[in-house]
Amino acid sequence: MKEKIEEILAEIENFKAAKASDIEDARVKWLGKKGEITALFDEFRTIAPESKREFGQKLNLLKKAATDKIEQLKASGLDAIASKGAAFDLTKPGDALPLGSRHPVSIVREEIVEIFRKFGYDVAEGPEVEDDYHVFEALNFPPDHPAREMQDTFFVTDKDQSNPILLRTHTSSVQVRCMENMKLPIRVICPGRVFRNEAISARAHCIFHQVEGLYVDEGVTFADMKQAILLFAREMFGPDTQIRMRPSYFPFTEPSAEVDVSCNICHGKGCNICKGTGWLEILGCGMVDPNVLKASGIDPQKYSGFAFGMGIERIAMLKWQVKDLRNYFENDLRFLKEFETNI
Ligand code: PHE
Repeated sequence: MKEKIEEILAEIENFKAAKASDIEDARVKWLGKKGEITALFDEFRTIAPESKREFGQKLNLLKKAATDKIEQLKASGLDAIASKGAAFDLTKPGDALPLGSRHPVSIVREEIVEIFRKFGYDVAEGPEVEDDYHVFEALNFPPDHPAREMQDTFFVTDKDQSNPILLRTHTSSVQVRCMENMKLPIRVICPGRVFRNEAISARAHCIFHQVEGLYVDEGVTFADMKQAILLFAREMFGPDTQIRMRPSYFPFTEPSAEVDVSCNICHGKGCNICKGTGWLEILGCGMVDPNVLKASGIDPQKYSGFAFGMGIERIAMLKWQVKDLRNYFENDLRFLKEFETNI
């Protein structure tokens, strides 16, 4: 009996099914009414009582091995495949893999960068974790300027230590690094992520993206800036676009202006996107303050420059009339898929 048990065990272990009916055949051969293991159970009744314990255990293990093997073979799918006939229709076209789409912020960033690249601007990037000097001090922020306060800035180190480390609140810090390191004339565009300690709402977020530009050379004038921005606005929003400038204030530019473009939805008639004004605000700009040039080692007597900065999300909102800024950060595929055709 012992040899017979071992023989069947070895057979179970080595058994392989080529088709579904092989599994059923094996089940009948081992466990069927007239199967080998069933026969051994019959034989078991006749063995000497002192051997019953040993053989009982062995037989139970054998039965379990056979049942497990059958289950395992069935689970391997051979059964289903065989009963359905051909496994796969190899002539069927494959299932399309879902394709991701470009993020609207990336699409607009590249569009802006491409426009300025055509005007001869280089692209510069800098650290998101910056020091106070490059974000504020070199940009002529007075020591008590509200933008340095806790409500605007995420500090990484203690805000009261000298030159604390912080998350940049604008990419103007990259422009400072360019003025420090690049040879004049400088014509750069600085796209990047910025951080401000603001409550998240439909119109504000603590993380957003900017593109800022800087041009420093001999004899750069306000008229040059106006022309560059007008050309940009026409490339971005269409050839009929008009711009207007309103006086504004930034510590690092003098004079400074806020730029509006004619509403590309109602073409100046007034709609709810432009709140009836016919104009949409798109960027801030100005002539680089002489103090800022001086701080980076550029002689303001000889050189002048202009700078501008815009929020990418804002431009994208105007372009596609997205009403809630939070859509850009939630990565909801239903939202992102809407931009698929804009690749
Ligand atoms: N740095 C400004 C901001 O973040 C934008 C700006 C850049 C304004 C350059 C003027 C000139 O709001």
